[in-house]
Amino acid sequence: MAEKTEKSVVCKGINIHKTYWRGKIEVHALQGVDIEIRRNEYISIMGASGSGKSTLIHILGCLDTPTRGEYYLEEKRVSEFSDDELARIRNQSIGFVFQEFNLLPRLSALENVALPLVYAGKKRIERIKKSRAILEKLGLGERIHHRPNELSGGECQRVAIARALINEPKIIFADEPTGNLDSKTGQEIMAIFDKLVEEGNTLVMVTHDPDIARSARRIIKLKDGRIGDA
Ligand SMILES: Nc1ncnc2c1ncn2[C@@H]1O[C@H](COP(=O)(O)OP(=O)(O)OP(=O)(O)O)[C@@H](O)[C@H]1O
Ligand SMILES: [Mg+2]
Repeated sequence: MAEKTEKSVVCKGINIHKTYWRGKIEVHALQGVDIEIRRNEYISIMGASGSGKSTLIHILGCLDTPTRGEYYLEEKRVSEFSDDELARIRNQSIGFVFQEFNLLPRLSALENVALPLVYAGKKRIERIKKSRAILEKLGLGERIHHRPNELSGGECQRVAIARALINEPKIIFADEPTGNLDSKTGQEIMAIFDKLVEEGNTLVMVTHDPDIARSARRIIKLKDGRIGDA
């Protein structure tokens, strides 16, 4: 019975290590992380500055690969993927939201949101229709032709969330998504995340704010590149 209700695994990391080189010095950013994320989970990753949170979420989000260990996304062994393969799976299956929004300044909100659809080879008419609908859903129907510098921080982050959602990703990652926002605007972003999880999405968010982390249903704590108990 328990097995029947158990949700499928979206991604799984086994003994993930990441070593950076700073000149001749090795930095062991991740030192043997095991992690499994199931469909419709809402997870926050916490830990001190330098504990490896961004490194981990970048690997989980296919922006980077581990130095050692295995990483599977929907049973595909991503840790062995080439850069091209990584870019493809990222566009198809992953939504990523950054602290600094990472919008292209010369493009309108609509064009920023539509960009992943360009890479996915969708027709212009479909790109516009879909991007407009998702921006409207996020309350930005009146802002679709604005460029990032004509939008508030909260609006920029909502555009970035729309862009992350546009290809209907299997999983959404957010690295300190409220880090550049005042607390009221941060709460608005968290309300959007709550709704996305309610609608069935899978979400993993890095934060060092315990109030923000409490929105999640599971908290993973990192310490010196390892997952700790408390
Ligand atoms: N590109 C890089 N080159 C060298 N060292 C790096 C690189 N990226 C991260 N590091 C180091 O790896 C460790 C983990 O960094 P990471 O950015 O994952 O930490 P974090 O938990 O996200 O910290 P913060 O809360 O400050 O964002 C740190 O010691 C950091 O200095
Ligand atoms: Mg970080």
